[in-house]
Amino acid sequence: PLVKDLFGLAELEERIRSHFGLKQVIIVPGDSDVSPHTKKELGRAGASVLRKLVGEDETIAVTGGSTMAEVAYHLTPATPMKGCWFVPARGGLGESVELQANTIASTMAKKAGGRYRLLHVPDHLGEEAYQSLMQDSHIAEIIAFIRGARIVVHGIGEAMVMARRRKVDPETTESLRRDGALAEAFGYYFDRDGNILHKMPTIGLRIEDIHSMDHVIGIAGGKSKGESIASVLKHGHEDVLVTDEAAAWEVVNRL
Ligand code: F6P
Repeated sequence: PLVKDLFGLAELEERIRSHFGLKQVIIVPGDSDVSPHTKKELGRAGASVLRKLVGEDETIAVTGGSTMAEVAYHLTPATPMKGCWFVPARGGLGESVELQANTIASTMAKKAGGRYRLLHVPDHLGEEAYQSLMQDSHIAEIIAFIRGARIVVHGIGEAMVMARRRKVDPETTESLRRDGALAEAFGYYFDRDGNILHKMPTIGLRIEDIHSMDHVIGIAGGKSKGESIASVLKHGHEDVLVTDEAAAWEVVNRL
């Protein structure tokens, strides 16, 4: 707390917390865009928040991405997590293997001494494939299991960066750009005001599942993500935000 006061971070945390009605905001010093150390600290802070929030035998849904990979890396065995299940929030979002939610969920389970279940879904599902996948009883069972999660831990990205990283088709990318897509989280694209513009055609948690969770924990930093973080906060269903100083200033300067 002393160091945070020195940097004025405690005050910054409180401004964001109260403005968006969050339960908790944690800000680490620095800018993840330029400092790998800050990104690691973001991961460490995320892991520590999670450790404090989980109860016994809990299901924790996680998304993919490099920030979540840092969170996974920093988890350590903790008694309450032994009976916990780590599951991907959604599948088939077009990420590379290291950044997939499945990979993050299994790493988290190994690090924390818990268990995991995976969701295997191909990327870029067509409508027909999507419908038939939903009919499969094994898939239906794991999806019901995932929807039983009370905690979701997720990354936040810039819409256009994510569309490119996931190789979203040119027409969809163009319509996202035209509609002013700013942020992406859990496979949903949001505009400046936090409205949903587009949903990736895949399976797993739906936005309404996320809305009804007990703990929605967003973890994202870097100056470049400030606007995107603000847009997801405006959507209005976050409980905890773990971010860095550079992103936090971008958020506060837009209030
Ligand atoms: O694709 C999974 C995901 O969590 C996205 O929802 C989010 O936009 C992105 O990863 C964040 O990735 P990174 O932490 O690498 O910026």
